[in-house]
Amino acid sequence: MDIRAQRILITGGCGGIGLGTGEYFAKLGKQVILVDRSTEAASDLMRRFDNISCIELDLADHAAVDRRIGALIASGEAPDALVNGAGWSPKYDEDGKTWKPWTMPMSHWSAVMAVNVDASFNMCRLLLPSMIANNYGRIVNIASLAARTGGGVAPVHYVTGKAAILGMTKGIAKDVGQYNITVNAINPGRIDTPMIRDVSDEVNAAYAARIPLGRLGTPLDVAHTIAYLFSDHADYLTGTTIEVNGGLFMGP
Ligand SMILES: NC(=O)c1ccc[n+]([C@@H]2O[C@H](COP(=O)([O-])OP(=O)(O)OC[C@H]3O[C@@H](n4cnc5c(N)ncnc54)[C@H](O)[C@@H]3O)[C@@H](O)[C@H]2O)c1
Repeated sequence: MDIRAQRILITGGCGGIGLGTGEYFAKLGKQVILVDRSTEAASDLMRRFDNISCIELDLADHAAVDRRIGALIASGEAPDALVNGAGWSPKYDEDGKTWKPWTMPMSHWSAVMAVNVDASFNMCRLLLPSMIANNYGRIVNIASLAARTGGGVAPVHYVTGKAAILGMTKGIAKDVGQYNITVNAINPGRIDTPMIRDVSDEVNAAYAARIPLGRLGTPLDVAHTIAYLFSDHADYLTGTTIEVNGGLFMGP
């Protein structure tokens, strides 16, 4: 399995899936650029690998992203592969109550969409021109099983945003296929990262008990799927979604 991409940008790169994916590609000798609003969690990886770099950015600040990523491209360091992995899944309001559709102010809805949807589109928008110029590019958008099921513990803004990512994936894929650029999505199920630790251990154990493969997923499980989608073995896959959930959901 050969991966032609040499420079891989990962948003949410300092979260659980981002760090696992970054390490995987760094071990393959790729240049890895981790973009996150806080890059502290990557300090150990940065010490171990000189082919990993970090960019600290709030991806909801679209103007700042335009400037910083624009500068990266202008310096001749345009990524030829992108993982849109940044995500935000706030579950509780300021009183600690689970968000419900009727308790959610539009400002909160919009703040979640800015990260989970707009930031992914913005990153595609910014990186596509250089991919088109090179007649090569690979993009993986990380959505969620929640987009298909309505979400277990995830509120409606998260579910809606992840469903939007699946549509965006197809919408972009259809326009860029002619330039040898593939755009696919991954729906993780329950992956053991900081994101799932805002619910009790009992809730996560109950998820694990329902998973036919008998365990929560790991960041490496997701990294392996991304690597496949970036590889020549997936050259003919675009606009599709791979479910990485251990069999947690097998619905239509
Ligand atoms: N862990 C799971 O079970 C699971 C399931 C389905 C989907 N996902 C998706 O996988 C992706 C990675 O999630 P994870 O499990 O590694 O979670 P995580 O919380 O460990 O990582 C998410 C990262 O996104 C970053 N981020 C959030 N908002 C940002 C912003 N405004 N600007 C820059 N960075 C920002 C966070 O700082 C964090 O490092 C997310 O899109 C998430 O929705 C995860």
